[in-house]
Amino acid sequence: MDWPGVSSKLAQLTSRQADIPGMDASSVELGAADPDGRGVPARYDRRRPRATAVSIIVPTYNEADNIGVLLDRIAETMVDYDYEVIVVDDDSPDGTWRAAEQKADANTRIRVVRRRTDRGLSSAVLLGMTVANGRALVVMDADLQHDERIIPDLVSSVLDDGIDICLGSREVEGGDYGDFGRGRRSVSWAGATLARVLLRLPVTDPMSGFFAVSRRRYEQVGDHINPRGFKILLEFLARGPRPSVDEVGYRFGQRLHGSTKLTGSVVVSYVLALIELTVGRFVSATFTAYALVGALGLLVRFAALLVFEQAGIGAAAILALELSVLFNFYSNNAFTFSSIGHRGRRSIRPLLLFHLVSAQGVIVQTGVTNWLTESSLFRNVLSSDGRAPVMFLAGIVVATVGNYILNVNVTWRPAGAVRPFGLRRATR
Ligand code: GDD
Ligand code: MN
Repeated sequence: MDWPGVSSKLAQLTSRQADIPGMDASSVELGAADPDGRGVPARYDRRRPRATAVSIIVPTYNEADNIGVLLDRIAETMVDYDYEVIVVDDDSPDGTWRAAEQKADANTRIRVVRRRTDRGLSSAVLLGMTVANGRALVVMDADLQHDERIIPDLVSSVLDDGIDICLGSREVEGGDYGDFGRGRRSVSWAGATLARVLLRLPVTDPMSGFFAVSRRRYEQVGDHINPRGFKILLEFLARGPRPSVDEVGYRFGQRLHGSTKLTGSVVVSYVLALIELTVGRFVSATFTAYALVGALGLLVRFAALLVFEQAGIGAAAILALELSVLFNFYSNNAFTFSSIGHRGRRSIRPLLLFHLVSAQGVIVQTGVTNWLTESSLFRNVLSSDGRAPVMFLAGIVVATVGNYILNVNVTWRPAGAVRPFGLRRATR
């Protein structure tokens, strides 16, 4: 028995997949269409030739023990829907893709993309969206922490109510963190609060990895999304024109098998993403992070100076300066330039370079401050009391920009990169 339109749809899919950069058609494996010849229930037949209503995108990495259970549960919940499931697996060593393909052999709604060229959660989700046909695009974890029973509600909000983004939330009525650890819960809370304040987003759970987005929204912002890290929902919320949003509560489940891939670096990249989404239009997010660290370093320097002077330690100024240089180096290494992050013995050379850059910066800062203080230009603008701190800060700003350009190109230069200047934003 033939499924109307299926062969043309498959042809269309395959040609679309071949267009994805870095992928060839052979690394994409589609579920075989109706291999056992039992046909497809009549109720799907009627809707099929039109666009699929719902695409459920499931990124996976080492979820072999979970994926089968999840796919069965989705099939049960979505029995009345016109849907497809797209599993995007990054060639998991545990053979998650194989387990998913076995399910796909028996269920034509399941498609498996086995990606060999790239890795990462957000980029996997974006790839799933590229090949998806649905008018609503749902994203969820494979580890059974996201309750598939709310998918109909997420989808209805998007398809029936015309909402751009509907997210599964642990914070609203009906939502629950389950056995989520205290630490993770406070990280989640901090992330949500930051996003609410900085981006003024009316959502309670912007770190959720469980959401539905309309095709319209995807087409609006999909091309502008930063494919790094774990915060893809944040990107959909914050890029482009303001979306309409809605939330549906769900109880966060226990991970059944395997382990989380969310680490400290994921949190760092989330904070960097928030900065990028807040000020990125005007100035590079890396520079903003660098300047924030610099401001903290200045506080460290003054606090240390006070303490050392009180204690009557000689060379207090030099010691305080050195302390702030160390503070700046390690903070920038862990935060601002976390993607490069020098470690162990490899950080000795960059640390020495950072000292040279900082010494240069101190000279520039002092020079600029003295020059401005002595110049007649500002004599009449500021009272003599007000002048000193302003001139000091002006020196700091000039030195910070100079130091940044040097540090980006010397201390934290990505391997093999030619990058003459760092202030310009990377092109999107
Ligand atoms: N393809 C692919 N590639 N999938 C990945 C990768 C990757 O590099 N890393 C993780 N995944 C898959 C996992 O297999 C899982 O299905 C899902 O992405 C989420 O990963 P988890 O490791 O389960 O993350 P989590 O549960 O700790 O984090 C959850 O909460 C975060 C914040 O609350 C997720 O829902 C995140 O999306 C969310 O940001
Ligand atoms: Mn998870």
